[in-house]
Amino acid sequence: MPEQVPLDFLGDLRRTHSCGQLRAADEGKRALLMGWVHRRRDLGGVIFIHLRDRDGVSQIVFHSDEKFAAVHDKADILRSEYVVAVEGVVKLRTPETINAAIPTGEVEVVADKIWILNESRTPPFPMEDNVDVSEDARLKYRYMDLRRPRMQKNIMLRAKLSLAIREVLDSLGFLEIETPFLTKSTPEGARDFLVPSRMYPGEFYALPQSPQIFKQLLMVSGFERYFQIVRCFRDEDLRADRQYEFTQIDLEMSFPQQETIFSVIEPLLERVCAEAGFEVKAPFPRMTHAQAMRSYGIDKPDMRIPPFYCVEDLFPEDPNFATPGLPLVAIVIPNSGAPTRKERDELKAFGQERGLRVFDDAKRLERDAPEPMAKVRERTGAGENDLLFLCGWVGEPNGRRPEETLLQAAGQLRLFAAQKFNDRHQLLDPKVFKFLWVLDFPMFEWNEEDERWVAAHHPFTSVHDEDIDKLTTDPARCRAKSYDIVLNGTELGSGSIRIHRRDVQSAVFNSLGLSPEEAQTKFGFLLEALEFGAPPHGGIALGLDRLVMILAGEKSLRDVIPFPKTAKGTDLMCDAPSAVPDKNLRELHVQVRTKK
Ligand code: AMO
Repeated sequence: MPEQVPLDFLGDLRRTHSCGQLRAADEGKRALLMGWVHRRRDLGGVIFIHLRDRDGVSQIVFHSDEKFAAVHDKADILRSEYVVAVEGVVKLRTPETINAAIPTGEVEVVADKIWILNESRTPPFPMEDNVDVSEDARLKYRYMDLRRPRMQKNIMLRAKLSLAIREVLDSLGFLEIETPFLTKSTPEGARDFLVPSRMYPGEFYALPQSPQIFKQLLMVSGFERYFQIVRCFRDEDLRADRQYEFTQIDLEMSFPQQETIFSVIEPLLERVCAEAGFEVKAPFPRMTHAQAMRSYGIDKPDMRIPPFYCVEDLFPEDPNFATPGLPLVAIVIPNSGAPTRKERDELKAFGQERGLRVFDDAKRLERDAPEPMAKVRERTGAGENDLLFLCGWVGEPNGRRPEETLLQAAGQLRLFAAQKFNDRHQLLDPKVFKFLWVLDFPMFEWNEEDERWVAAHHPFTSVHDEDIDKLTTDPARCRAKSYDIVLNGTELGSGSIRIHRRDVQSAVFNSLGLSPEEAQTKFGFLLEALEFGAPPHGGIALGLDRLVMILAGEKSLRDVIPFPKTAKGTDLMCDAPSAVPDKNLRELHVQVRTKK
């Protein structure tokens, strides 16, 4: 810290303008601005500072002639990020000093008063975007990182989108209703964050993984259209698009068809994209889960790049070529023909790691099997300039559902190749937004670890009317009334039509291996509520963080959440999680087995 800077009081000073507001038309006006010293230059006695607030930057000039000497001397003390108020007259800049890069660039304020409201230590990194700062430094000094233009822009965008969401949902008759954070486990497939109860030794609240059960109960209560922009908590492995705490745009409706839900979400997303400066047009394309797996090998296809095609029917069966009975997949990456030897090897290695054999040399295949390959080109539409390759399985089928495993591996290879050659085709443009509804997910998934069926969405999801009889006899073939909204290969939201009858809900719990006693202990209150005239209902939740991330052109949720956790789940700024004094643990009746 430099020697003590004499600080001024704010007193009754008030800003007349923001730092981004002044224009040529303001020439001659007096202006009082407040903000942070962004940059400071001293040119032969004249001091220039760029004064910054959240609205922009203004140039302030401190002349050294006698009239301004006292102000100039004070300005001489200023360093980066000092907080000041300045007052002076708005002057037009001379043509050669106009700064076209900033909206206030035609004017400057010639200061005749200055108040230093606070000083600053040397910032840990410059308040600029185009400097490399380690993730750890950014998160330790998050409040400084948030001063940088990109983060300011992202957080402001987030606020703007939240407001637009509230406006749209309000206009459609949705009520914003809060649900509790200290509650009981809500199963969404992750671990719960638990909160020990002081009053009830050995008992715990769980933080909600989603407001799922409460929003259903609000439908039982007759509110008909509920929404909430709500924090959810899930103790799961973190990734670029996953945080422990994240925000959902959560909604629920009574008496809806699936279409009714879509007719809310599509205009909502059109408006949100428009707020972010992008035009998208509903209706969004739709695809069943089965189609998505068959054409993309993934349940959240990125529609900016073409599907793959199953072509095993075009080739004579030959176990040396591909395992009979399993798909042979043709992948086309547009405008990326003629990869180098090294690139081919990388494709092969990526496929091999996932059990695939990659036939990367289309020319050779065309020599060896001209007819089938001509048909492959016809089916896929692959042109001469496109990269075309096949992949299949050779040898013993792998896993419980080999076809699914193979298609998933091919789906990963398609994405890998598309990303690898993006420089050539440029289809993965972050400013192109392709929404997609994926429908009719399977009701259950087989969990290899626990050797039992688990709910693919959550256990409150309805089964298709035609599949209800299969609940106990053939769970694998039960389709759910569930839907995902996908954007550019990211799952943005999920929802379903719910079970509103107690008998059906009990049958589904039963299919999931919950005994009636377990179902009663965990969800007795919900089962009971379904006995009191629960209306047919359904809903959806969108990940707000993911939506803002994609619209802001960011790759990590951390860049759109003000105070996120690190990839290891810690908060470097507050140092959380951290140990607590024994006294607190005793009050909570908690004993720690191992300390770090
Ligand atoms: P689901 O579990 O699919 O559905 O969650 C809905 C959406 O929330 C976002 N999301 C996350 N975002 C960041 N970090 C996470 N850890 C995380 N987990 C989920 C995703 C996801 O699509 N109750 C149901 C919704 C319903 O049926 O109405 C639910 O929570 O964008």
